[in-house]
Amino acid sequence: MAAHKMLLCVLMSLFVLTTAQECGKFTGNIDDKDSKLPWMVQLRERMSSDVICTGTLISNRHVLIDAHCVWPKSYFVALKLISNVYVTIGNDAFDLMDIKINSDWKFNNPNYDGDIAIAVLFNPVTFSDTVQPICLPEQNAGTLIRPDGLVTGINNIDNTNVRRRVTVEKNDVCFQHFPTRVQKASPRTFCVKWQGEDLEIANGFSGSYLHNSDDVWLIQGIETETFVQKNDCDIQKHSIFTNVAHYIDWIQNIVKRDTEQVWKDIELKCTFKRNFEGLYGCEVENLIINSPNVRIASISGLHEDNMDNSAVEYVWIKDSQTSHLPRFDAGIFFPHLIKYLITNSGLKFISRDDFSGMPKLETLDLSHNELKEIPEDTLYDLNELVDLYIENNQFKNLPENLLSHAPAFQRFKATNNTLEILPANFFKANHALKILSLDNNKLHKIFVDFRPFRNLKKIDLLNNRCISTNFNDWRRYKSVLIVQKEIESACV
Ligand SMILES: *[C@@H]1O[C@H](CO)[C@@H](O)[C@H](O)[C@H]1NC(C)=O
Repeated sequence: MAAHKMLLCVLMSLFVLTTAQECGKFTGNIDDKDSKLPWMVQLRERMSSDVICTGTLISNRHVLIDAHCVWPKSYFVALKLISNVYVTIGNDAFDLMDIKINSDWKFNNPNYDGDIAIAVLFNPVTFSDTVQPICLPEQNAGTLIRPDGLVTGINNIDNTNVRRRVTVEKNDVCFQHFPTRVQKASPRTFCVKWQGEDLEIANGFSGSYLHNSDDVWLIQGIETETFVQKNDCDIQKHSIFTNVAHYIDWIQNIVKRDTEQVWKDIELKCTFKRNFEGLYGCEVENLIINSPNVRIASISGLHEDNMDNSAVEYVWIKDSQTSHLPRFDAGIFFPHLIKYLITNSGLKFISRDDFSGMPKLETLDLSHNELKEIPEDTLYDLNELVDLYIENNQFKNLPENLLSHAPAFQRFKATNNTLEILPANFFKANHALKILSLDNNKLHKIFVDFRPFRNLKKIDLLNNRCISTNFNDWRRYKSVLIVQKEIESACV
């Protein structure tokens, strides 16, 4: 019995050993800055192929990068979306299906806390001698930064490799030389001092801080900012790094979720045609999707003469059964997509991920479906949105900030829902608002003050409940067509 148990133990530990993921192994001369690190990834711009920053492979689908690389400070949205970037590992290129930016990264705060993001590859990479992830630190090592590390990355000015031994310095010593930079530090950053005399004088550097322990390399930091000061006989160069150990829970949740999630890849079967507006597009009927984990992996269909996917301006899924939308990266398939229509298709659930890969979208039509709720951030990646059509769904209310990321927004059509209230700040960011169709709802309160909207042409309010608002004062001096019936009748 005991012998059996022992054998089982031995077998089990063998099993664990052989299936454990290898990470952080490097056999060459790591100080040679041109030796290839198997976890080194380049994030590149799709159009130019230029390297935007380096990242570090941490699983077969995940790459750790800086948040500021894709979302610079002072921009209220991320600038580099999955549709305009891809990554290279060695000589191979990979598309992304997501970039998760840490939610503590705040564009309107000068502090660089949370400067960390994860790029998720569309398909997993195969590990080999030249492709391998780095190891992650343990979480309880959060404050323990090994003082002697190796900085690796690229010089952003001339794209040459950077590889240098550095030492960690206490914040007060570090910022002595650079007092204005102290506002970028946080309890989750650390500071290193570059050593040596022939320091590459370049502020533009993107990379990571590695430490070797028992012949295994692990990543302790990703670079936030590097600063150089040169006096007559003295060069000071320091970098601030985000301390990865403080984000281990967040990282592992994302890695785990994507590892457990099995995607079902489908082909989108298009009928390519020109619509009544003269736009060229892909129309799809009888698509059946009844789970959230479906993604579009390829497109089929016969193009008109001289046309190809890059000419496609709209995708219209109609008369289908799609309770969920497929994950769809328009940047890969249809880079000029401006309209996305899903109508008469029994759509029940939507989320931000459904639209995050189509940054040029101007029109989103979700009419004639079964939607009851829309998460507040659903449209946050659609910064060029002009039209939103949600007629004939089952919306009872709408979140106040739904349209807060769409400054060019003009037309909102929500006829035939059961809306009861329109929140005061619903159109706060939409100064170009033109048309509002809210007929056939159950509105009894409109808190919006429409006076500042100089482009408003029409508000349709037929068939609602008695609506109380400051509406009528305003109506006297605006030449807006208001289609309404008995707005004040029987209201107390
Ligand atoms: C609203 O619903 C009514 C009744 O079903 C229908 O006749 C009308 O066309 C719908 N309006 C819109 C804008 O879809």
